[in-house]
Amino acid sequence: MMKRTFLATSIAAVVLSGTSTVAVAKDKMTLYCSAEENWCQLMLNSFEEATGIDVSMTRKSSGETFAQIKAEATNPKGDVWWGGTGDPHLQAAEEGLTAAYVSENRSELADWAISQATSAGDKTIGIYSGALGYGYNTELLAANGLSEPSCWKDLLKPEYKGHVQMANPNSSGTAYTTLATIVQLFGEDEGFEFMKGLHANINQYTKSGSAPIKSAARGENTIGIVFMHDAVKQAVAGFPIKVVAPCEGTGYEIGSMSIIKDGRNPESAQAFYDWALTAEAQTLALQVNAFQVPANTGAETSPSAPDLASIKLIDYDFSKYGSSAERKRLLKKWDDEVSVLPQ
Ligand code: G6P
Repeated sequence: MMKRTFLATSIAAVVLSGTSTVAVAKDKMTLYCSAEENWCQLMLNSFEEATGIDVSMTRKSSGETFAQIKAEATNPKGDVWWGGTGDPHLQAAEEGLTAAYVSENRSELADWAISQATSAGDKTIGIYSGALGYGYNTELLAANGLSEPSCWKDLLKPEYKGHVQMANPNSSGTAYTTLATIVQLFGEDEGFEFMKGLHANINQYTKSGSAPIKSAARGENTIGIVFMHDAVKQAVAGFPIKVVAPCEGTGYEIGSMSIIKDGRNPESAQAFYDWALTAEAQTLALQVNAFQVPANTGAETSPSAPDLASIKLIDYDFSKYGSSAERKRLLKKWDDEVSVLPQ
């Protein structure tokens, strides 16, 4: 598959002009990446190696990348947006910021990845999936004499004041997934009461979604609300992190990929897109301890990946919470009613 993509790209990179052939600028591209930095870097290097296409890459969180693509809409600078939670990718599709594309490799994907595409007129597609939860530093918890949390509502206990960290839902897809999950689990009124109660215990809203568990691993924070696979990554690295699937049930992400509309390097963008859907490319995740469930059914899933079948998952309504109106409305409400409260 990789060979075929490479060949197609090489041919595409040369066009006939009169009697001579000239190379056209199809051998480079700009990648906006919203997954973990080391995974982004590995994808970039492996794609460059497989195709000879030069990639320049920027890593930013999902909400930030959405905002950047929107701000650049009249003069797009990126070609592909790879990774990050699906909701802002869906919003970008709805707002006409991304381009429809059907890859020949789509048939290798799980149904949930394909549904993400079909629900958005093929302007985005699922590439991985993972459940939301939280993790805590067992040593810090014990040192502070705190009880072990196991539910979402446990996080509201006054004993955790200053011990909980999550990202800002405006910049981070992880934190937006948290907000949308809580609203879906408890209803909007009770959900916002929950977010206000949680706010009283939050020590910092970070920009990036996985930062809260990285700081917990370093012993600078006790509990981090993150995707469970990000907490597993710290535990596997040897840090004293316990991973929790909250007792009430939890939401999940369909990490996504989209081609940016009117990007400067559309052939390279399609080459990256095709390649990123292959089993080989998706199995690279294992090299950087990215423990999501891959969309390609032939890709390897790490035995350390949280088993989604054994986690109580809500029926996350992606079309509603990934819609432009709902995402804007919820973020504004969180800004107006939660973030402004004293702590
Ligand atoms: C981490 C997770 C990804 C997720 C991403 C969202 O990198 O491993 O599964 O898609 O966070 O990032 P953000 O910073 O937008 O929350």
